[in-house]
Amino acid sequence: MSSSTTANLVSAFSDFATLSDAQAEARIIEARARLGQRVVLLGHHYQRENVYRHADFTGDSLKLARLAAQTDAEFILFCGVHFMAEVADILSRPEQTVILPDLAAGCSMADMADLEKVEQCWSELTDVLGTPDARITPVTYINSAADLKAFCGGHGGIVCTSTNAPAIIDWALKQREKVLFFPDQHLGRWTGYKKGIPPDQMKVWDPDLENGGLTKKEIEHARILLWNGYCSVHQMFQVEHVRSWRAQHPEGFVISHPECNLDVCLESDHVGSTEFIINTVTAAPPGTRWLVGTELNLVSRLAEQLKAQGKIVKFMAPTVCMCSTMQRIDPQHLAWTLENLANGNVVNPIRVPLHDAEPARVALSRMLETF
Ligand code: 13P
Ligand code: SF4
Repeated sequence: MSSSTTANLVSAFSDFATLSDAQAEARIIEARARLGQRVVLLGHHYQRENVYRHADFTGDSLKLARLAAQTDAEFILFCGVHFMAEVADILSRPEQTVILPDLAAGCSMADMADLEKVEQCWSELTDVLGTPDARITPVTYINSAADLKAFCGGHGGIVCTSTNAPAIIDWALKQREKVLFFPDQHLGRWTGYKKGIPPDQMKVWDPDLENGGLTKKEIEHARILLWNGYCSVHQMFQVEHVRSWRAQHPEGFVISHPECNLDVCLESDHVGSTEFIINTVTAAPPGTRWLVGTELNLVSRLAEQLKAQGKIVKFMAPTVCMCSTMQRIDPQHLAWTLENLANGNVVNPIRVPLHDAEPARVALSRMLETF
């Protein structure tokens, strides 16, 4: 089925849905050749292999945000999830267009905080602490909607990624005595631990309970309030997986993403972003053995790439845990968006409204310019 616009025929996704991966691949290559330098493909490390190989640049969230801010391409096709495409739109120039091949590629963790609940939290904190703007720095993990970044920009707050969270928490606690950290409690807790903040000064804020389920005394005492969010992929990794692997391979190394729970991070030799994980395992001596606590596409790719060096790279959980939303970007959606683009039709543009984009850019720029 095809429908028409004023200028060109827009191909519907249903025309592409039944293509085999090989057919989709051929159409991706053909459309890219027609587009040339007008389009740049950015790919997150969790993308499936038959999408990842088409990326001009790959990276973690921080690297991809910087790349989006630097590229001159007219179109930025983002092979990642919705919040990443929003960041690219906010940081790119107005005449550039960001495209997300499947609009259903969200992030379940990002969806665990929304503006209404964060504003409700801020107002409850006002009742307890007086003016929260004078006492709390809001810090949002980049895995969040643009309007939450805008909230941070408007309240003297900032964005962080898994790479720079410790430096950002330092900065935030220099601005004011407390931090409200959302949406990932695990990244917040690990970062607070690294900064030497005692556990009783890091309290989980449950947005579904009055005052986050905390007493006024607990709120007064807390230095970091941790939003009750988590990543459904990284929550699968458990400390027992680390211990049983270490019992079998005492010479091996464990590396995890900071979205894993604190126990897993504490028992890991290294903790860091997806880019950090790739760089660390790649730079390790040949013949070393690794247990990796992050998404399966990344770990499988790393294992394949490094086996020639005699490195053994193993996924941490016994069950398959892919990021199902990252997985939504497939060769068929890539072919659909690129072919339409080559025919002059922009499908799935990501446009953050100006009233969110401007304050969100303030919070993002505080991060990008300082860290
Ligand atoms: P990175 O910024 O480390 O790539 O993490 C993104 C993410 O969503 C991890 O789940
Ligand atoms: Fe979101 Fe988790 Fe997927 Fe990362 S792995 S994009 S945090 S759901």
